[in-house]
Amino acid sequence: MKAFEPKIVGFLCNWCSYAGADLAGVSRFQYPPNIRIVRVMCSGRVDPLFVIEMFIQGADGVLIGGCHPGDCHYMEGNYHTERRVKMLKKVLAKSGLEPERLSLEWIAASEGERFAKTMRDFTEQVRSLGPNPVAGEKPNLLIMESLYAARNAVEDFRLRTLVGKELALVEKENVYDEKIPQERIDELMENAIDEELVRTRILLLAKDKPQSVKGLADKMKVPSRDILKHIVTLRDRNLIRLEGIEGTTPMYLAQTQEVEA
Ligand code: FES
Repeated sequence: MKAFEPKIVGFLCNWCSYAGADLAGVSRFQYPPNIRIVRVMCSGRVDPLFVIEMFIQGADGVLIGGCHPGDCHYMEGNYHTERRVKMLKKVLAKSGLEPERLSLEWIAASEGERFAKTMRDFTEQVRSLGPNPVAGEKPNLLIMESLYAARNAVEDFRLRTLVGKELALVEKENVYDEKIPQERIDELMENAIDEELVRTRILLLAKDKPQSVKGLADKMKVPSRDILKHIVTLRDRNLIRLEGIEGTTPMYLAQTQEVEA
């Protein structure tokens, strides 16, 4: 039987990791040909959406390469990347995909050998995880649906704001001369991810067919009172509407133009 050859997408920053890949090539350091490289100006340019989209499109692994901490040519780009990757790994785990399929590596322009070794190690790591469950002829629809939900969740304004401000919140004092502890930020982020995933699932389920709170609660295995709370939020955002009443049960339909799947 033919060995599984993982498909890996690598987002490499122009100034360090991409130059490191170049050096590996001209120095003839061997590494597996599984990676397709996308050159970006800074690892901070890698939008979390790109990563989720790669997995939806069937990538088995995604690697982000940036300059070492302190060396980013745009000052703080790689610090933001580090936080985004941390958030993305949580989102992937909640979607049912192994977070180890995503890797962040710091590789300098002079580290051609390190680049080659990183590629060898990551390819083996992804190979041991097996194919992406949403790729191929029989995709795992549950994970696929969760990834769509994750894609919508990482587009969410609140989550983006939280990740974008995390560095400032943890390291700089606010107007009351306080720093917010990392644990508190992690907790807020975790809650934001959970809530956005639930809301996006509600929108996906109510996309074509009106749903009741109880129906959604049963399908999603989430308490009815939580579903109701999310529906109120979604109605405030004009993402879902009351479509009618069946007997005494209100039925909700997503505003379809807002839900992409
Ligand atoms: Fe390389 Fe920002 S320029 S990580």
